[in-house]
Amino acid sequence: MFVKVGEDIPHPNTTNHHIRWINLFFLPEGEKFPLEIGYCTYDHHGESPEGPDKSTIYSEPVAIFVFKTEKSGTLLATAYCNIHGLWKSEAELKI
Ligand SMILES: [Fe+2]
Repeated sequence: MFVKVGEDIPHPNTTNHHIRWINLFFLPEGEKFPLEIGYCTYDHHGESPEGPDKSTIYSEPVAIFVFKTEKSGTLLATAYCNIHGLWKSEAELKI
């Protein structure tokens, strides 16, 4: 499963405004609780000893999660922005 924040509208990626992590869950059809597939953090956002946005390195909020399942279900992705908080989206997985 490919997860990317800001596919339609790019999210800012600066020292002051950035995505800190993405988490992916899967709720198998007919089951009660979603299972965590993976968690990815993004730890560099342009900060440097010279100040904010002075580095040439910016972690990009993109993740690939690979898993096997024999059931259809719902993928639930969450992402955390340091300014706007928690975002979530869902997608159906049909087997
Ligand atoms: Fe944001």
